[in-house]
Amino acid sequence: MIDLRVPGDKSVAHRFLILATLADGESNFSGVPASLDVGSTIACLRELGATVEDRGRGEFRVAGPSSWRSPTKPLDCGNSGTTARLLTGLIAGLGIEAELTGDSSLLLRPMDRIVYPLQAMGAKLSFVDRPDRLPVRLEGRSSGGLRTLRYRPRVSSAQVRAALLLAALAGRTDLEILDRLRPRDHTERILRAMGAPVISEGQASGERIRFPGASWDRGLQPINAKVPGDLSSAAFLVVAALLTRTPVRIREIGANPTRTGFLRVLAEMGAQVDLTETGAQAGEPVGDLSVEASALRPFVVDESLVPQLIDEIPALVVLASRVEGVSVIRGASELRVKESDRLALLVSNLRALGVGCEELSDGLRVHGSSAPLNGVVRTEGDHRIAMAFGALGVAPGCAITVDNVECVDVSFPGFWETLTEVTSGEDMQ
Ligand code: S3P
Repeated sequence: MIDLRVPGDKSVAHRFLILATLADGESNFSGVPASLDVGSTIACLRELGATVEDRGRGEFRVAGPSSWRSPTKPLDCGNSGTTARLLTGLIAGLGIEAELTGDSSLLLRPMDRIVYPLQAMGAKLSFVDRPDRLPVRLEGRSSGGLRTLRYRPRVSSAQVRAALLLAALAGRTDLEILDRLRPRDHTERILRAMGAPVISEGQASGERIRFPGASWDRGLQPINAKVPGDLSSAAFLVVAALLTRTPVRIREIGANPTRTGFLRVLAEMGAQVDLTETGAQAGEPVGDLSVEASALRPFVVDESLVPQLIDEIPALVVLASRVEGVSVIRGASELRVKESDRLALLVSNLRALGVGCEELSDGLRVHGSSAPLNGVVRTEGDHRIAMAFGALGVAPGCAITVDNVECVDVSFPGFWETLTEVTSGEDMQ
């Protein structure tokens, strides 16, 4: 059994750092990943006046509450949709002037999903160049402040929830969101750990959350926590382990049940995977994941599970390409507006390597086999496409070159070295 560790969870790290800037006191974190996306959030928070002190080796001190100021230049969110969307919500709630922008991939991603409900709350913000795309400009406090929002998002998204909760928290207003599907609930859990009254109610399908911001007169308590390992990063190592039949254990990774759809699909495929909970950090469950060599069968993923494994679909798809039979994913059109159009890019790359697959409007169908695969993968700079095909490349009979190996730094610096740990383990057996 090879023991592996992965960098801290990006989703949790963004939220720990952002929420700590609003707390009544000093928060301390360890395990903050050196990923470029989290770096974008830290840089933007500093531009906004927050004290986020890097103490080295993934340790950060955040001194709340922050003395906010209007940034002197546009905030650069880099490649990070989470940074752009969460900070737009925060800034709308704070009522300060700012402009947010990002890299060429982020400039293509939809922003209406947060701009529209924030406008409905009374925030003054608009698109600078084109509808629905960054840059977004926020014009400062609206007269009378923000107002109550009751909202049914068109897309059930953890980023939308987080953005609106941040706006309601900083703008002290009531918020109710009724989601058709249940997205990952990091923001709600961390807010509760910091003492905020966020109520979640499961519905026949989906979920309602409420935050009574207008009447909540207390402040957020600071927190000290270690960021759990990122399950989304671990997913690529799990796939490599299954493809090479190498038993691995990945320690201290996030075990939030709204995030572990990937493991449920693996279990349905017949994979011997076990996630044993070992504790929690600021409301976020943590556990050790073990994976044994397993015989696998194909899978079907439908819409209801998609929000809970959205970032793991590239990993599942490459795994499906080596599992005899037809695997299907539906209800995943959101993948078209991630760091790339992941549905199109997965299909074109798989076909180029020799895998039979069909692109559907909201998913794809993969015909898995053990035929040799070889060729060059086009990543379009998308970190998860690079890591998915990197993991596929270690499977027996595969000779795959990834056109951009550096883009993994967005979420998993050190990915290629860690992948080698899995394959060298196989050599030693
Ligand atoms: C994230 C939520 C997901 C995910 C993204 C990170 C988050 O997006 O794809 O990588 O941290 O909230 P949506 O929930 O908006 O689909």
